[in-house]
Amino acid sequence: MHVGIIMDGNGRWATRRGLARLIGHKRGAQQVKTIVKSCPPLGVDTLTLYAFSTENWKRAAHEVEGLMKLFRGYLSNNLVELHEKNVCVRFLGDPSPLAPDILDLMENLSSLTKNNTGLNLNVAINYGGRDELVRATKSIAAKVKRGEIEAAEITEQTISDHLDTKTQDDPDLIIRTAGEMRLSNFMTWQSAYSEFAFLEQSWPDFSPEVFEKALQNYHARTRQFGAVIAK
Ligand code: IPE
Ligand code: IPE
Ligand code: MG
Repeated sequence: MHVGIIMDGNGRWATRRGLARLIGHKRGAQQVKTIVKSCPPLGVDTLTLYAFSTENWKRAAHEVEGLMKLFRGYLSNNLVELHEKNVCVRFLGDPSPLAPDILDLMENLSSLTKNNTGLNLNVAINYGGRDELVRATKSIAAKVKRGEIEAAEITEQTISDHLDTKTQDDPDLIIRTAGEMRLSNFMTWQSAYSEFAFLEQSWPDFSPEVFEKALQNYHARTRQFGAVIAK
């Protein structure tokens, strides 16, 4: 089962407590560790975490810098443990505007863990579903131009295969914390038939227990994919 999580509400979590927004992000980063660990026993084999959107550059420079610092910390401090836990880490999004040292850390983590067979962890950094579709379209167009594929032969599968998620299954369930009911540019193509859970808890309060409840709720649903399924 593939679960995507829009980790929202760090800022509000902190503001409510009279703390700086970055303290909320710090708590959020700690929560990532706990939730990643909880996936295998909960039956989640692919987890996609929305960490930074293509729109998040609009935030104050010190908040963006603080988030980048947290990514550096997460990527370097969790390398050994993620590898020991057999997690295969991939990154979604356009890496080009990220700092060179962050790119190095991302490359280290993905190459070290690429043959791991446990949890598939996708981390979406500078990710936008529309940007992903633009990049996929450019890459398909270039192949058509080189004569590698015929325009008439482009299928839904061709598009899926050129997205950052490549051959991975689409998310079965997308969870968004902190009460907002929108996708904010997350998995535009892949979410076509996803189930949704919009939860009240802010990301720093999203515990394995809350996660388990959301999964139980998901398992009680009937997914018809356009057909009529007799109950
Ligand atoms: C989510 O928390 C983290 C990122 C988007 C990077 P927010 O920072 O959006 O928290 P709120 O929505 O302001 O509470
Ligand atoms: C979505 O949250 C992006 C991430 C969780 C990384 P935002 O807080 O940025 O989304 P909006 O601005 O409320 O749509
Ligand atoms: Mg937010």
